[in-house]
Amino acid sequence: MEPAKIKAVMPVAGLGTRFLPATKATPKEMLPVVDKPAIQYVVEEAVAAGIRDVLMIIGRNKNAIANHFDAMPELEGKLTEKGDDRKLGHVQHSSSLADIHMLRQGEPKGLGHAVFRAKSHVGDSPFAVMLGDDLIDERDPLLPKMIEVNEQKKAMVIALMEVDPEQISMYGCASVEATDDPDVVKILDLVEKPAKEEAPSNLAIIGRYLLTPEIFDVLEHTQPGKGNEIQLTDALKEVATDDDNVDVYGVIFRGRRYDTGDKLDYIKAILQLASDREDLGPDLRPWIKDFAATL
Ligand code: G1P
Repeated sequence: MEPAKIKAVMPVAGLGTRFLPATKATPKEMLPVVDKPAIQYVVEEAVAAGIRDVLMIIGRNKNAIANHFDAMPELEGKLTEKGDDRKLGHVQHSSSLADIHMLRQGEPKGLGHAVFRAKSHVGDSPFAVMLGDDLIDERDPLLPKMIEVNEQKKAMVIALMEVDPEQISMYGCASVEATDDPDVVKILDLVEKPAKEEAPSNLAIIGRYLLTPEIFDVLEHTQPGKGNEIQLTDALKEVATDDDNVDVYGVIFRGRRYDTGDKLDYIKAILQLASDREDLGPDLRPWIKDFAATL
């Protein structure tokens, strides 16, 4: 399947309570990571993998996201008058990236429910689910490998990352079997946010999934699980453990990932990305060193 035919689904209906009061009136996906809203990195990642159609599953209070990916004639007119092509380019870039569609989730019943809402938009093709809290560094592409595994195995594919066992209770966790490819594993079982004593491995699901439409048949009857929410992990567990269903494979990601869903990690993400930038890094890096010496 050509990437251009694959659609991306981005669930962005969360309330972002961890970032209050910043997220009282601003969606957490719009918080800037250096100088771009977090969600723009995720859309750019989809576009870099050849995806041109993005469906955002939104909640109330998310108008700023729709506005960000829309044209802004008044601002564009002002910048054109001033001849500020650089800023004009920045403004126009986000609205020309992809076709962005918005769908309200309705009731906030969990990630599985949000994905289920994408059913009629997605149709009969494999599609990517991309969570806005996980930023994947553009220098370490992950989606192309997932698309390749989906095509080869005709299976669903999830992204996994080795984490410190102390952290596994923050993630979905996979029990796996090796394949000939050291970066690809077969998923035997999954559990959402297990206690560290009960975790079958230290392989955590990170927020990238390449699913096939069979997931909707399962999500339709998936009961609320952890946190009384309909969990995507529970639906994938059913797919992986049911012999009649397609297989689920995992791609182990060993590149740079930034978590913007947590305050401390969000600050780290900004520093890491800014220190790598040509326009900011040369001044920022020595400052970080001096600052660290004062601690
Ligand atoms: C979700 C998934 C979880 C996954 C995580 C990745 O959890 O339910 O399985 O490991 O995303 O970021 P959330 O972080 O939305 O609670």
